[in-house]
Amino acid sequence: MIAASAQTAKHYDAIYSGVPLLDDGGRAVSAHGACILKENGKYYLFGERHSDTSNAFAGFNCYSSADLYNWKFEKIALPVQPSGRLGPNRVGERVKVMKSPKTGEFVMFMHTDTLGYTDPVIGYATSKSVTGPYVFRGAILFNGSPIKRWDMGSFQDDDGKGYLLIHEGDIYRLSDEYTRIEEQVLANMSSGCESPAVFKKGSTYYWLSSHKTSWERNDNEYYTASSLKGPWKAGGNFAPAGTLTWNSQTTFVLPVIGASDTTFMFMGDRWSYPKQESAATYVWQPLVVNGSVLSIPAFQEAWTIDLKTGKPASSVVPGKEIPASDANRVGYTGAWRPVSSLPEQRSSDEEGARCTVAFTGSRIAWYGQSTADGGYARVTIQKNGRLVLSSLVDMYCKNPNTSLRFISPVLPKDSYTLAIEVAGEHGNWSDKRKSMYGSTGNRVSVERFVVSDK
Ligand code: DGJ
Repeated sequence: MIAASAQTAKHYDAIYSGVPLLDDGGRAVSAHGACILKENGKYYLFGERHSDTSNAFAGFNCYSSADLYNWKFEKIALPVQPSGRLGPNRVGERVKVMKSPKTGEFVMFMHTDTLGYTDPVIGYATSKSVTGPYVFRGAILFNGSPIKRWDMGSFQDDDGKGYLLIHEGDIYRLSDEYTRIEEQVLANMSSGCESPAVFKKGSTYYWLSSHKTSWERNDNEYYTASSLKGPWKAGGNFAPAGTLTWNSQTTFVLPVIGASDTTFMFMGDRWSYPKQESAATYVWQPLVVNGSVLSIPAFQEAWTIDLKTGKPASSVVPGKEIPASDANRVGYTGAWRPVSSLPEQRSSDEEGARCTVAFTGSRIAWYGQSTADGGYARVTIQKNGRLVLSSLVDMYCKNPNTSLRFISPVLPKDSYTLAIEVAGEHGNWSDKRKSMYGSTGNRVSVERFVVSDK
């Protein structure tokens, strides 16, 4: 289920991680395995367009934004092809786009595959305009042969040279047109890794990547070097161990360059198979880059970035708190129980059980605990019995944590009712080796709400 009605164009005032992000039409932004490109003062987000019913390639979406908070759906930049590597019932992942300084053309790279991940090949597509439509050109060749690998990323160096990053720690240098590969500059640097991303600060290159656990999150690691050719030095985890990279998998690092600072924005995916369209979210956090030490020491549930200066600032979800235990404000139907170790929380795994909060204001946020047996929650906001928006929230996390689960866009100030309903379903999946991953139950928990009128 996705949001039902369009909101005002500017409805977010900060970057919120791990919660549904709605576009200008009120629909969940569907752009995973993403990258962001800046062109003519605007940011363009490219990512995997998903459905909730199949993992088949559904196209790559393109969104635009002037502030990195509010995203406008532009178009399907590369649609499903009639046949071939990105035809029906194929896989297309981890789209990355760079502009060739030589030709001015936009070149899109991606992982193409069968639904069973048995035919991985890196492909490319080109377009004269940033939003597309892109023309799929097939496999990108190195010495006449395709690169038969899967997770990939891209990196554009200060001198305009473009590079393809491949899982296990391979790097290829592209021709100046970005349409051929000229040289392999690194091989097998970080064996066992997926989801590579590289950025550069000063004269140091940083390589970030995950371990191989399918769509499950793990503690991602980084390496540093003064040349892409290496030697690369392992730096360990860049988020505290056990947070599973703040419950996400690396996809890209966006340098936001201002007059006095550059913020390197980590972009990660919080996957939610099979509801990848509705319930998978984004974890975008400012990286702390201190010499050769890289970290995201604390999770910022809300943060802002001054695009003029390039400075990030931590923010808070503003408003008045309503505890889940406030019987005057919070209503429950169905079986909700206090959580033994967290008496202020209520949780339920009964399909259809509902928790409702009537509020007057312009925004509401919900905090709750994600657990290994967390399931999907259907969130709706109604006004006078009319649906204003709806969203699906995944309450699963291998390691339990209580944090922001949902924040509404800014709505016209009015009286609304927020409802959270236990969907009675949960995310889980198996990988190529048939190992099972994901949640074991349908639990939804509520700890508190925050209502604001601005
Ligand atoms: C891990 C990769 O990082 C993802 O992009 C995706 O391909 C999943 N594997 C599929 O299991």
